[in-house]
Amino acid sequence: MPRDRTPLIQKIAKQASVTFKDCLSKDNGEHKPLPEQHKQLISLVTSLRAADLKLAPRKSSRPGPEGAQSPPVTYMHICETPVFSMGVFILRSGASIPLHDHPGMNGMIKVLYGKVSVRCFDKLDSDGAVTPVFEPPLSHSQVPSLCRSVLHCVSEYSASSPPCLLTPQQDNLHQIEALGGPAAFLDILAPPYDPDNNRDCHYYQVLQVSAPSSESPEETWLLEIPQPEDFWCGGQAYPGPPVSV
Ligand SMILES: [Fe+2]
Repeated sequence: MPRDRTPLIQKIAKQASVTFKDCLSKDNGEHKPLPEQHKQLISLVTSLRAADLKLAPRKSSRPGPEGAQSPPVTYMHICETPVFSMGVFILRSGASIPLHDHPGMNGMIKVLYGKVSVRCFDKLDSDGAVTPVFEPPLSHSQVPSLCRSVLHCVSEYSASSPPCLLTPQQDNLHQIEALGGPAAFLDILAPPYDPDNNRDCHYYQVLQVSAPSSESPEETWLLEIPQPEDFWCGGQAYPGPPVSV
C-alpha cells in the first residue's frame, strides 16, 4: 500500500475543518464540535511535534540588549477559514500571554517545545451576585467592566502532553506563561476571532478582594482592561509544510 505522505499539519487542518464545520450553525447555539470528529482531531494534534512544522526550538533563555525591544510573543499564521484559524505562538523565556477570552469559540493549545503553565477561568453569571469590596477600590466607571468568574484549573503542558482544550462555556478565559525557557504552541480557534460578530479578544485583570463575599475560595472577579502595555505580539513566517483547506 502506498505510504500516506500528507503532512500531519495538513491532516490536522482538514480534520479541524470537518470537526468545527457546524459550530456557526444557528441550530448549534452552544457551538459544539462533532464529538467523534473532535476525538480524531485531538488524537492528531496530540502527536504533533515541532519537527512536523520545521520549527527549531529557540535556545536563548533571556533577551540580549537588542532583544529587550523584540516582542515577548510571536505569532506564525498557518491558515484561517470562516470555520477555524490555526497558527503557532512562540513565547520568549519568562513571557506570558495575559488573561484573555475567546467569546463563543472553541480552542485547542498543543505545546510544541518548552513548557507552559495555563490558568483557565470560567465566566459565571453575575446577576444577583453581591459585588465584594476590592482592594484598591474600583471607580464607578470600572464597575460595568466587572465579571464574576471561577478559577477552573492551573495546569502545566509540555510537548508530550495532550492539548489543552477550551469551549465557549469552559476554560474560555486563560493566561499562558512560558516556564523555564522559551516555549511554542499550536493554537486552533473555532470559529476564529471576528470583532464584527461579537468575537473580539478582551483582556482581564484578576482583582484582589479585601472581604470575600463568597464561600468559594476559587470564585474571583475580573476587570476588563485594555491590552497590557508590556504585552505585544510580533509576526514571523511559518516555516512548515504548506496547508490548504
Ligand atoms: Fe487564547
